[in-house]
Amino acid sequence: ELGKFRHYMQKEIFEQPQALAQTLELIAGGAGITPQHFGARAGEVFDGVRRVLVLACGTSYHAGLVARYWIESIAKLPVTVEIASEYRYRESVPDPDTLVVVISQSGETADTLAALKHAKALGMQRTLAICNVPESAIVRETALRFITRAGPEIGVASTKAFTTQLAAFALLTLALAKINGRLSAEDEERRLAALRHLPVAVQKVLELEPEIEQWAQRFAGKEHALFLGRGSHWPIAMEGALKLKEISYIHAEAYAAGELKHGPLALVDKDMPVIAVSPADELLEKLKSNLQEVRARGGELYVFADAGSEIPESEGVHILHMPEHYGMLSPVLHVIPLQLLSYHAALVKGTDVDKPRNLAKSVTVE
Ligand code: F6R
Repeated sequence: ELGKFRHYMQKEIFEQPQALAQTLELIAGGAGITPQHFGARAGEVFDGVRRVLVLACGTSYHAGLVARYWIESIAKLPVTVEIASEYRYRESVPDPDTLVVVISQSGETADTLAALKHAKALGMQRTLAICNVPESAIVRETALRFITRAGPEIGVASTKAFTTQLAAFALLTLALAKINGRLSAEDEERRLAALRHLPVAVQKVLELEPEIEQWAQRFAGKEHALFLGRGSHWPIAMEGALKLKEISYIHAEAYAAGELKHGPLALVDKDMPVIAVSPADELLEKLKSNLQEVRARGGELYVFADAGSEIPESEGVHILHMPEHYGMLSPVLHVIPLQLLSYHAALVKGTDVDKPRNLAKSVTVE
């Protein structure tokens, strides 16, 4: 079943173009954005929504964090993203005009299910599940659903489920923007074209595997790593750190790059590799000055750049050039090399990639 791959994780990383194409089949050909992508009652449920609350755990939570940047900037709705195990036990202020989005690969995560039930008990009935398993517990509890079509994910570390969750959130962003009168016909066409091309763009990034494998060789001997990003790529840095921790057992932390001098810079020395997610977006210049701060302390930099964000290679500065900059959807491309980096670092270390110690694929107890 593994075919040419050594592990499910590697196979699932390489299945991402196909998983994305299947998830985005709804907009294939000339099809446009409609609330119906989220269920027959979506028009009614979305109507009058004034804010969005995303509840999830782990990698699914990181997908929600990316979506926050998209929904606020494009659909102009305020978004809160909260870890399900915190929300369920916190006294919060409910608002019935909130769209509650629960996001889960398995649809069985105990805390996410309980957080959803908690929101409903507080009077929030506008609920949407983004889930990879159509018959799961979470999907049975929501008014609306979007089923990602990643196919079964066997590796404990979530990869293709994450990128298809992002695709689902991109569609949700456009649907909410359209309902709010924030999406012109030209914008819709342009954004749909980018989504339809996404599987091809991901395929090109996957071709960078040999280069990333070399980086992983140098990485595997480290005990700690720091991941930096800004804007919608900050959650991608968080996801990169989570992947590295869970399968290679290297301690990794992610920071919004602007936070560096508020504490973590104290950790940086020659033994602390710093991974920077560096797309050619409007935050690039800010990020570059953060990277200089790292170099000045002797930290070794591993920079994931894309078209237009070229940073010169120099002593202690390693650059991976991704082929294109992908605008709003850039986080989908930038997570791929981080998945590959942790996979190959784990291979070098000889850990059990598909079944990391102490972890279960589906967390059905809190
Ligand atoms: C990390 C990972 C976990 C899950 C989390 C939520 O690679 O897989 O962090 O994302 O346990 O699981 P789901 O999405 O099934 O609710």
